[in-house]
Amino acid sequence: MAERSILITGGAGFIGSHVVRRFVNRYPGYNIINFDKLTYAGNLENLRDVEKAPNYRFVHADICDAETVAHTLREHKVDGIIHLAAESHVDRSIRDPFAFARTNVLGTLTLLQEARNYWESLPEGYEGKLFYHISTDEVYGALQLDRPDGGAPYGSEFFTEETPYAPHSPYSASKASSDHFVRAFHDTYGMPVIVTNCSNNYGPYQFPEKLIPLFISNIRHGKKLPVYGEGLNVRDWLYVEDHARAIDLIFHRGRVARTYNIGGFNEWKNIDIVKALIRVTDRLLGNPEGHSLPLITYIEDRKGHDLRYAIDSSRLKEELGWEPSLQFEEGLEKTVRWYLDNPEWSDRITSGEYRDYYRRMYGDRE
Ligand code: NAD
Ligand code: TYD
Repeated sequence: MAERSILITGGAGFIGSHVVRRFVNRYPGYNIINFDKLTYAGNLENLRDVEKAPNYRFVHADICDAETVAHTLREHKVDGIIHLAAESHVDRSIRDPFAFARTNVLGTLTLLQEARNYWESLPEGYEGKLFYHISTDEVYGALQLDRPDGGAPYGSEFFTEETPYAPHSPYSASKASSDHFVRAFHDTYGMPVIVTNCSNNYGPYQFPEKLIPLFISNIRHGKKLPVYGEGLNVRDWLYVEDHARAIDLIFHRGRVARTYNIGGFNEWKNIDIVKALIRVTDRLLGNPEGHSLPLITYIEDRKGHDLRYAIDSSRLKEELGWEPSLQFEEGLEKTVRWYLDNPEWSDRITSGEYRDYYRRMYGDRE
């Protein structure tokens, strides 16, 4: 297998840690550099099992820091970038949109510009290089619920790669902008790029501010489960390792300048997810059936709350043969078990102690 040197940004986050682990374990001949600022969402403990691997390096830095990006690309002779670093939580974007413009837009632009400077300075130029940008289905806006009583799918329309962008939240607006910059670097400078837009991920190591890990943690502690609005919004859920597998496949076999949608054909109304989580978590905790149902608390809706996301990922299936491997019931059970088996992981986040892991490993350089 050819040696490669791959910069993975945001590798200490939820999806990034699964991608780093997969690449470190599957490709011992590759040099994997995890470039992460360790914001509140970054947790090196997610990578404990691979941190000593000879093909793994960690660089503690901000993607907005052009000098460090340039230095890292040159020092490690990077020929592939998988870009996951981002501010990723919609509710935070509603409170502080500027942080999202900074990292998601300016940070992505900084990475693109420095990759361009470096790769264009090489004798072979862009040959054998790839800038792979990880994005979200939220850039496409929201779909209607035109089959509200018919069960999933909850509407007749799906996001395809041709769906025009119509982001609503500051998060999705910043991701849409970064997607456009990535494509612009292909169209303007000839940089080899790929963009993928994925639906909602779930699984181990997700920061407990997102629906599924937050609610598992709250059920465990007997705390309220804050459901926005009436809980009728629909999301299309994909197990995170299936996303990491798609990223691996697309990084190696995807067509340059192409977009691929990644999704599970797995639509759920929020309230049904919450009930399923309660069912599984109560059973695994040994609680009587329905024990945690009274924790459900309907609260004020999220501002601009997108009604429905649903991805058509047939291009990825037809061109590269990818399909989700896990049924949702199986994935959800696996996920709940992981959070219940690793309560100290969530508890260290809640207490803030997770930040000490970095200090113990790398000294007090924050
Ligand atoms: P996350 O919030 O769990 O992790 C983000 C990581 O990026 C963290 O480790 C953080 O420290 C790092 N980071 C943030 N700002 C940085 C900066 N300026 N410089 C360097 N590192 C920085 O996010 P996630 O859920 O793993 O999402 C990863 C990517 O996938 C994002 O680009 C997101 O838009 C996209 N995505 C996420 C989902 C989902 O359901 N979570 C779905 C589709 C696409
Ligand atoms: P989230 O996990 O934040 O992902 P996204 O906003 O990117 O889809 O939320 C998933 C769905 O769950 C979304 O419709 C908002 C809803 N939600 C709640 O009802 N309560 C909560 O506490 C959270 C975090 C989300």
